[in-house]
Amino acid sequence: MADSPAQFRGQARLPRFAAPLRYDLRLRPDLAACTFSGAAAVAVAVSAPTRFLVLNAAELDVDRASIRFQDLVPTDVTQFEEDEILVIGFDRELTIGEGVLAMDFTGTLNDQMRGFYRSKYVCNGESRNMAVTQFEAADARRCFPCWDEPAFKAKFKLTLEVPSDLIALSNMPVVKETVSGPIKTVYYEESPLMSTYLVAIVVGLFDYIESSTSEGTKVRVYTQVGKTNQGTFALDVGVKSLDLYKDYFATPYPLPKLDMIAIPDFAAGAMENYGLVTYRETALLYDELQSSASNKQQVAITVAHELAHQWFGNLVTMEWWTHLWLNEGFASWVSYLAVDSLFPEWNNWTQFLDETTSGLRLDALAESHPIEVEINHASEIDAIFDSISYDKGASVIRMLQSYLGAERFQKALASYIKKYAYSNAKTEDLWAVLEEESGEPVKDLMTTWTKQQGYPVIYAKLNGQYLELEQAQFLSDGSSGTGMWIVPITSCCGSYDAQKKFLLKEKTDKMHIKEFTASQSSDGDKNIWIKLNIDQTGFYRVKYDDELAAGLVNAIKAKKLSLMDKIGIVEDSYALSVARKQTLTSLLRLLNAYHDESDYTVLSHVTSVCLSISKISVDATPDLNNDIKKLLINLLLPAAIKLGWDRKDGESHLDVMLRSLLLIGLVRLGHNETINEGVRRFHIFFEDRKTSLLPPDTRKAAYLAVMRTVSMSNRSGYDALLKIYRETAEPQEKSRVLGSLSSSPDKDIVLEALNFMFTDEVRNQDSYYILGGISLEGRDVAWTWLKFTSEEKAAEVSEFFACRMKPSFQRALKQSLERVRISARWIESIRSEPSLGEAVQELLRGAA
Ligand code: BES
Ligand code: ZN
Repeated sequence: MADSPAQFRGQARLPRFAAPLRYDLRLRPDLAACTFSGAAAVAVAVSAPTRFLVLNAAELDVDRASIRFQDLVPTDVTQFEEDEILVIGFDRELTIGEGVLAMDFTGTLNDQMRGFYRSKYVCNGESRNMAVTQFEAADARRCFPCWDEPAFKAKFKLTLEVPSDLIALSNMPVVKETVSGPIKTVYYEESPLMSTYLVAIVVGLFDYIESSTSEGTKVRVYTQVGKTNQGTFALDVGVKSLDLYKDYFATPYPLPKLDMIAIPDFAAGAMENYGLVTYRETALLYDELQSSASNKQQVAITVAHELAHQWFGNLVTMEWWTHLWLNEGFASWVSYLAVDSLFPEWNNWTQFLDETTSGLRLDALAESHPIEVEINHASEIDAIFDSISYDKGASVIRMLQSYLGAERFQKALASYIKKYAYSNAKTEDLWAVLEEESGEPVKDLMTTWTKQQGYPVIYAKLNGQYLELEQAQFLSDGSSGTGMWIVPITSCCGSYDAQKKFLLKEKTDKMHIKEFTASQSSDGDKNIWIKLNIDQTGFYRVKYDDELAAGLVNAIKAKKLSLMDKIGIVEDSYALSVARKQTLTSLLRLLNAYHDESDYTVLSHVTSVCLSISKISVDATPDLNNDIKKLLINLLLPAAIKLGWDRKDGESHLDVMLRSLLLIGLVRLGHNETINEGVRRFHIFFEDRKTSLLPPDTRKAAYLAVMRTVSMSNRSGYDALLKIYRETAEPQEKSRVLGSLSSSPDKDIVLEALNFMFTDEVRNQDSYYILGGISLEGRDVAWTWLKFTSEEKAAEVSEFFACRMKPSFQRALKQSLERVRISARWIESIRSEPSLGEAVQELLRGAA
């Protein structure tokens, strides 16, 4: 074994005795046959005695006879499929130093949206294939044999042989093209040092538009032929983001060009390939007439996110997947910074609390995981592209920035990028730079957040003139874990003018309220309010004692609190209620304080809490369900009535978003007038797709309204939606329809929608819209159906789920089981709330 190829099996990482320096790659895709052939010549540095070269390869046919290392012919070549490695053995030890490893290979252009794959599009009424790559996390090895780990950075020089009439793009600009009949050979410039997962190729028919940054970097957006007008928004955001990041990181954009391209079949939302960023169509294209305000935001955030990776991720790369969050958490955080600067009126940092909310919700499960996780096999990587890496990651970065101050933070980041450019870094490396620049104990502080799963709830209690604090790990099942954190606490009392800031390092602490009271507020204790975690910059929750909680309710009613704090209070209250630390009754009373709220950012959280309450009350309090719904409808209705269904001239972006949010919320809560109006407008729209009565922003609400009225015996609404789906060419419009189709209360319609999902009419990438839209009534049938049908009927889609989702599925499955148990306990505790019924009646009367 010691000297056999099998010694390299079962290892988390490749051996380090040889590393690639430069790849010379020639690839020839056959778009009709869906195959490709390739030749690789890799300059390799051998640094320690070995008679083997070990690299990654998967689903490739390597031509053994073609393999050479310098002039050496290997004596044995073994491909271990399970380990995805290729072990090349020679009859003697290799000379220490540099040599070239050459080989030929072939593979399939698969339909699994990973590795080197095919995507389908229609051109002049004819279906055609394009060839696309998606290599992150570990699928470059499906396209060419390589050292497929982020730390093996090398230079790449590509050559593509493609049909002469097609466009062939890669990371770097073209240096030369030669045409020989139907085939052209395209040569690209050599890249700087980069990781394999960022290599990219796209071959197909496209149009493009172009612009350039202030430094003169050419930026292009490629779209389907004839659709470049839909790329202008992304192009503009792209150019401005590059300029902004260049200043923010104090480092120029590292490559000579940037292309961004929309791909019809795409597994993720977008991928930051160096110099050639790929997007799902809905995440790149924006159409004045066909897109909604929320589509627009999504495009801006996605572009800003992927372009941030060009520095944070591509120029400086995580050393191993354990540090994936450095990539994703950071890009997510900084995308808000960029978009906030481009569109200040969107109030982006307040919207950032959506990210914090999802992070907090997931991380309150026992089946969560720390931000930094050990990765022992490539198949485990997909599972960590989750809300912990993205949302908790982004949130703890915001917490740190707010603790250190924006300027110090930016300066340190710029040094970090300079120090690790063209190289790799670990989480500790970032902390070390920040610590050096700031003199603060960054590493100790942050380690408690990145190496430990979960987060604390701070119990805040007023004891005479002292505010007493105690931390305990927050878990949604109501238990408290054993975690301890160094918590950056911020607080203010009666006004935002005087704020106190300190680190809570122990389990408990207390402070005199004078310490953070603004100069002698003389209105006595009565109107006093104390808010901890100002603007929710900390990744924790706060549970106030009754007195403090009452003070905050008054402060909300008196409009003393910031939008972010209003969001934090309602989110914490909801979470505490689920965890049975607080009654549903008191949550409903708190919600009532948001009666006059008219801000989108706040109401989006209020609405999501309302919908959860409405859902739980179906099971918890069936007798009260209608009254509770009425109460929640009353809460949202005033703002909805004020906005109406029709857009007003000069209206703000956020009001447009709010209208759509409220109408959807009211439909989901079963508000009859809204449903009827939605159905009415839908009929007009169905006859005249150009009507101004149902623009993209309100369309989803109308579609959902129609589906609430659909059943097997009255299915015309469903058929009409299908017709719209078939007739539209717009992916965003298609996704609106798909997201509605399975929301009927009739189980058989839900089944029909699920069957539709597996037809050729729905791209695999879009199936989750249908799965995500399933009505409460349809959940059980959907689950049974998925368990059985996906195996028998739809080999193709189940294969998709199998290979994309399997590694992440285990944990996701455990998480949903945990959620079911949490809901069950919450239901029980709601049933035993003595005064819930009375409170609901009282609140209903109050609102009338
Ligand atoms: N690097 C990811 C894409 C990715 C995700 C590759 C999962 C492999 C597995 C990319 O930068 C990303 O994060 N995309 C997001 C969009 C973004 C706006 C959060 C996505 O795909 O959802
Ligand atoms: Zn990302």
